[in-house]
Amino acid sequence: MRVDGSLRVPGDKSISHRALMLGALGQGASRVRGVLQSLDVHSTAGVLRTLGAEVPALSGDMVVTGRGRVGLRAPTADLDCGNSGTTTRLMAGVVAGSPLAARFIGDASLSRRPMGRVARPLSQMGARFSFEERGDGLPMTVQGGALQGLTWRMEAASAQVKSAILLAGLVADVPVEVHESSPTRDHTERMLIGRGVDVRVDDGVVTLVPSSRLDAADQMVPADPSSATFFAVLAAIADTGALSLDDVCINPTRSGAFNVLRRMGASVRYEDRRVDGGEELARVVAAPGTLRGVEIEAHEVPSLVDELPVLACAAACAVGETRVTGASELRVKESDRIKAIVENLRAVGAHAEELPDGFVVSGDGRRPFAGRVATHGDHRIAMAFGILGAIPGSQVIVDDRDCAAVSFPTFWEELARVVR
Ligand code: S3P
Repeated sequence: MRVDGSLRVPGDKSISHRALMLGALGQGASRVRGVLQSLDVHSTAGVLRTLGAEVPALSGDMVVTGRGRVGLRAPTADLDCGNSGTTTRLMAGVVAGSPLAARFIGDASLSRRPMGRVARPLSQMGARFSFEERGDGLPMTVQGGALQGLTWRMEAASAQVKSAILLAGLVADVPVEVHESSPTRDHTERMLIGRGVDVRVDDGVVTLVPSSRLDAADQMVPADPSSATFFAVLAAIADTGALSLDDVCINPTRSGAFNVLRRMGASVRYEDRRVDGGEELARVVAAPGTLRGVEIEAHEVPSLVDELPVLACAAACAVGETRVTGASELRVKESDRIKAIVENLRAVGAHAEELPDGFVVSGDGRRPFAGRVATHGDHRIAMAFGILGAIPGSQVIVDDRDCAAVSFPTFWEELARVVR
C-alpha cells in the first residue's frame, strides 16, 4: 500500500466542546475558529441552546455570545446529549453549579455509561442527582445551585470528571481542588487560565480559586490528535509514502499514541512546532516502518485512551506481541472497547485475547484482513477497522460506517483520498 498527501483532520473534539461551553458561560462575544462540526459537538451546542444560551449553527468561524457564568435558564425540555459522554459529564458540572434543574438523556450507548463518577463529587458539593433506571446511567436529573467547595481525590483517571468539578466550582463561585494520580488531558485548565480564571496546577493538584470572572476569548481549535492517529497508523502500516497531518494538537496529555507508534518502529516526526490558542501544534509527518509489538501500561493510558482501538489494529500488522494493561476504562466507553477490539480483530483474522483491564494482540505481520466488523455504533471501532480495511486485498466489512460522524464526519472520504 502506498499513502501520499497531506490533510488537516477536523478540529479537536475535547477543545470544541469546551470552547462552546466556556463561550456560553463567558461575558460577551467569544469567537471560535475551526470548531469540530460533528454529532457530539452538535449535542453540546443543542444542550447549551436548551439552557437558553446563544449558540449559532456550527461553522468554521462562529461567535458564541455569553451572558456570564449565571446566565443559563431553567430548561423546558430534556438535555439530549446524544452519544456524547463529554457533553453529559461536563454539562452535569455546569448544571450542578447553576440554580436550576435539568434532565439529561442520551442514546442507548450513552445511557449505559456510568454517571456516578460525576454524581459523587458534585453531590458532595451540594447538587442533587436522581437516576430513573437501576444503576447510574441516563436518564439523570440534576438539581443544582448553592454549592460548597470541594477537595476531591480522583477515583480513576478522567478528564471529564476533573472538568465537571472545575466547571461546577467556576459557575457556583466556590473553590475546588482536584487531586489526580495520573495526568489527564488538561484543556479545561488551559482554557480557564486563558479566560482569566485563577486556576493553579501543581504536582497533580488542580485548584480553582473563585474569582467571579470568565472573560470572552477567541479560540482557535487545533486538529484533533485522536482523529490524526487513524492516519498516522495508516501511514505506519503502509509499504511506502508518507502522510502529512497539519495543525495537530501535540499536547503531551494527548499525544501518547504518536510515542507508541515510534516505539513500534514507525516514523512520526513533528515539524513546524508552534503555540496557538493555548496549545502546542505541529505538522505530524508519519511514514512506514517495520512494526514490532510493544507494551502499553497504565501510566501511559490517559494520553492515548481514545487511540487504543486503532493502535490495536496497528499491533495486528506488527511482528510480536502487543500487551495493553491498566486500561479497564475502555470497558465503559461508547462500547466495551476491550471486547469490541478483540472480537473484531479475531473476526478479520488476527490473533487477540482479552485481559480484564486490556488486551493482547499477537501479530505476525500478516495481511490483508477479511471479515465482518461489529461496531456496536462506536465511531472509533468503525474507523480503526476502516484503516485495516484500506490495506489492498482486505475485505473488511464495517457494519455501521456512518457512526464515524460522531467525531470525524469526513473520515471515509479522506481515507479514500490518501490511499494509492
Ligand atoms: C474526554 C476525556 C476522556 C476521553 C473522551 C473525551 C474529554 O474521557 O475518553 O473521549 O474531553 O474530557 P474520560 O474522562 O472518561 O477519560
